[in-house]
Amino acid sequence: MDNPQKYSVFITRKIPEPGPTILKKYLQVNMNPEVNVLDREVLIKNVKNVDALLCMLGDKIDSNVMDAAGANLKVISCYSVGYDHVDIKEAEKRKIIVTNTPNVLANTTADLTFSLILSAARNIINADSHVRRGNWKFGWTPDLFLGYDVYGSTLGIIGLGEIGTLVAKRAKGFGMEVLYYSNSRNQKIESDLSISYVPLEELLQRSDFVSIHASLNKSSFHMIDESKINLMKKTAFLINTSRGKVVNEKHLIKALEDKQIAGVGLDVYEDEPISVSNPLIHLPQTVLLPHIGSATFRTRSKMAEVSANNIVNSLFGKGTVYRIK
Ligand code: DGY
Repeated sequence: MDNPQKYSVFITRKIPEPGPTILKKYLQVNMNPEVNVLDREVLIKNVKNVDALLCMLGDKIDSNVMDAAGANLKVISCYSVGYDHVDIKEAEKRKIIVTNTPNVLANTTADLTFSLILSAARNIINADSHVRRGNWKFGWTPDLFLGYDVYGSTLGIIGLGEIGTLVAKRAKGFGMEVLYYSNSRNQKIESDLSISYVPLEELLQRSDFVSIHASLNKSSFHMIDESKINLMKKTAFLINTSRGKVVNEKHLIKALEDKQIAGVGLDVYEDEPISVSNPLIHLPQTVLLPHIGSATFRTRSKMAEVSANNIVNSLFGKGTVYRIK
């Protein structure tokens, strides 16, 4: 092996073990010890001359950052499965390897998707607040927090990748009919899980829960807009654990205000974090989470391991590299 310490990496935010230990064994490591998103100037300053960059969703890694890093930069390792924050074309032009963390977070995110479906359908958050605020006055009540059945209803999955498939599996345990729409059909999964491919419009019209699992790119940007939301049932819920920009948030807010759909369960937003002035916060039919789809101790640690190994294996030319391009 080459002299290991000749390479350096900048980690834009504190990541859990074993990520730092793996990297320290082979590289000089500079890790931002803070949990906040780095100011652009601080990011630009810290990437200077690094061989590798380990970055988060909130870091916009564009040509300016790559220029600031300079010719040494060989690997950009995303601490995520999504990589829409990286300018892939620019990286390709400069022969920089870009990597992500597949295979380790899909079950965790599928679990969270189901918790959003159940919470939204059964008023879990509002009912919990009702109890905590001392508003529960009359014991068991025939019409207190009536919601919608998940069991036996129809789920429409947009995007049948790793996470979409695992959500479909869980839905089968709830006796749901599962429809899906994806760029490509997967007839093996259709027959293994007894799920049906339908056009997007039909999925929106027939589903009681529409769950988005599409990655963000030019063709999925604002894929769900007013014209699509208007196809949904008035009793249906929209669930999004993928990327906020797949949905036109202004149109979604309008649809909720007009009671065009029954509610939403969101883990992602057009601009994160959302502020208290965002109307979504003031609408009662929303369950809102702070982008925690993959947030379990085990999964975040696995992501750290994979993203660190992606760097070491790319630089030293051995082992598995989860390369995007
Ligand atoms: C991802 O990995 O892309 C998620 O959004 C965060 O874990």
